[in-house]
Amino acid sequence: MKTGKIKIKQASIEDADFIIKFGAETFKDAYSHAHSKEDMDTYLLYAFSKEKILEELCDNDTFFLIASSEEKPVAYLQLTTTRTHSALKESSSIELKRIYVSKEMTGKKIGTELMKMALEIARSRNHKTIWLAVWEFNTLAMAFYERFGFKSFGSDIFTLGKTERNLVLMKKEL
Ligand SMILES: CC(C)(COP(=O)(O)OP(=O)(O)OC[C@H]1O[C@@H](n2cnc3c(N)ncnc32)[C@H](O)[C@@H]1OP(=O)(O)O)[C@@H](O)C(=O)NCCC(=O)NCCS
Repeated sequence: MKTGKIKIKQASIEDADFIIKFGAETFKDAYSHAHSKEDMDTYLLYAFSKEKILEELCDNDTFFLIASSEEKPVAYLQLTTTRTHSALKESSSIELKRIYVSKEMTGKKIGTELMKMALEIARSRNHKTIWLAVWEFNTLAMAFYERFGFKSFGSDIFTLGKTERNLVLMKKEL
C-alpha cells in the first residue's frame, strides 16, 4: 500500500470513535502475543473506553495527532503533561504517551512525520524534555526513537492484568 500524501491534524472530539477503535486495534496488534486475551480485553475496555478518551480529548494537558493517507486515518500519536516520572530531573517535560501506525502502513515514514510534528509542538510549548516509556522487547520502536535522539534514562514496570512488563524510559532534550 502506498502512503500518498500524509496529512496530520490535531484530533478533536469528533475523532473520539476513531481513537477508541484504532487505538485498541493497534495496541492489540502490538502486544496481544504477550498477554492473555482476558487481560488484554480488560485493559482495552479501560484504556480505550469512550469516557476515558473523551476525557483525554477535552483535557488541555493532553492532545492527539492523527495522520491520514489519502483521506484515511492510518496513525495517531498522544502527547500529555498529566504525569511526569520521578527519574526525570527536569521540570517542564512532556510525555509521548502513544504512537501507533496501522500494521499495513508501518515502515513508510508516517511515524517519522508524526514524531517531527510532536517535537515541533513540544518545542513551541516551551517544554525542555520529551520522554516516553517503551516495552523492553519492542526493539523496532526503540530503534525508531533512537533515530530522533532519544536516550534511555531508566526503567519502570507496567502491569497489565497478571503480567508485569519491564519498560525502558527514554528522553530527548528539546
Ligand atoms: C514504531 C512506529 C510508530 C514507527 O513508525 P513507522 O511509520 O513505522 O516508522 P518510520 O517508517 O517513520 O521509520 C522507520 C524506522 O522505524 C523503525 N521501525 C519501528 N517499527 C517498524 C516496523 N514495524 N517496520 C519498519 N520499521 C520500523 C525502524 O528503525 C525504521 O528504520 P529503518 O527504516 O532504517 O529500518 C510504528 O512502526 C508502529 O506503530 N509500530 C507498532 C506499534 C508500536 O510499537 N508503537 C510504539 C509503542 S512504544
